Amino acid sequence: MLRYGIVGTGMMGSEHIMSLRNIDGVEITAVADPNEISISLAKAMLGNLQESVKFFSSVKDLVDSQLCDVVVVATPNMTHEEVLNDLLGRDVHILVEKPLSISVDSCKRILNKAKEHEKILWVGLEYRYMPALSRGLEMISGDDFGSVKMISIVEHRYPFLPKVNDWNRFEKNTGGTLVEKCCHFFDLMSLIAKAEPIKVYASGAQDVNHLDESYDSKTPDILDNAFVVVDFDNKVRACLDICMFAEGSKDEQTVSVVSDKAKVEIKVTAGQINYGKRSTGSVGVVTSEVEKDERIKYEGFHHGSTYLEHLDLMDAILNNSSAKVDLKSGIRSVAIGAAAELSVKTGKPVYIDSDYNFTLR
Ligand SMILES: NC(=O)c1ccc[n+]([C@@H]2O[C@H](COP(=O)([O-])OP(=O)(O)OC[C@H]3O[C@@H](n4cnc5c(N)ncnc54)[C@H](O)[C@@H]3O)[C@@H](O)[C@H]2O)c1
Repeated sequence: MLRYGIVGTGMMGSEHIMSLRNIDGVEITAVADPNEISISLAKAMLGNLQESVKFFSSVKDLVDSQLCDVVVVATPNMTHEEVLNDLLGRDVHILVEKPLSISVDSCKRILNKAKEHEKILWVGLEYRYMPALSRGLEMISGDDFGSVKMISIVEHRYPFLPKVNDWNRFEKNTGGTLVEKCCHFFDLMSLIAKAEPIKVYASGAQDVNHLDESYDSKTPDILDNAFVVVDFDNKVRACLDICMFAEGSKDEQTVSVVSDKAKVEIKVTAGQINYGKRSTGSVGVVTSEVEKDERIKYEGFHHGSTYLEHLDLMDAILNNSSAKVDLKSGIRSVAIGAAAELSVKTGKPVYIDSDYNFTLR
């Protein structure tokens, strides 16, 4: 039995609890959250298992209890560094939710501290595990797909949901929409391009959402729409089109990848993939439905990707291997998002060096 602790039991912590409840060989032994309502939510998710779980109000008490082999961090973005500071160097494997942190500097401090951590530190960029995306990624890596040239990701969806203490309404807590939400997409772009980002240009604004809300007399300051263009060091270029007042969309997310030979178009929510070759043109495009992954026993809000991520993490722990979604992916995806936020503010392209430092030109 692997013993798990959950730190932060709001929306995402609950998804982790439910995913883990449905995996054999796993026992949830501890939960930490300072918020009583969130603890009640965790108890509801645990059902009759709650009798064998210890509840704490801080991560420090949870890790000191030595009740956990693995700790899942699902606290607000601006707390990730502080929470990790209490965990790194301790005898626990860690899964920290995306984004790794709210800025590149904060990620660098985490990377530095993680040098003394001997166990796995895994970043929860779980979109890679969504069944349609993982199938699409397989197609792209096939020999006959050719060399990737362009990546387009479109997400047209509903606004950010309310969170505990409304932390997600302000850039200082989230890193900004292009870090908070879009680190997933920048991770996918880097994974598909198999390259490092060198230049980011973005245009965006907060045009519609949350403008009538007020928290301690402050109006939320998060972008609700943007176009972001990313150049990679192998000449692959990528574009994100994000709109968060597009409730009237049929397909929430579409990822298209074009090579010198073919195109894959992944309709993520619909679970459908179009694959076509230049040589056979539009009549040769094949549409396939993504088959249900029979391993998924709990789908949650993310098509079962959290569940599959946990299976892979467990596999890595039991086989003494390293994190598949590592710190490099964590900092890179934050760096692209932070560069895009900076580009929106300055109106200038942002150049990124190999240490993820920025230059405006
Ligand atoms: N992977 C995904 O697709 C995905 C989806 C949603 C959220 N997330 C990430 O998960 C994290 C949590 O988001 P959420 O939507 O669950 O937020 P939430 O507001 O619903 O829950 C956060 C919980 O953390 C608790 N908390 C705050 N500080 C804490 C601390 N120091 N120690 C312990 N608990 C603490 C809060 O009381 C709250 O219960 C964020 O980093 C978010 O970006 C990831």
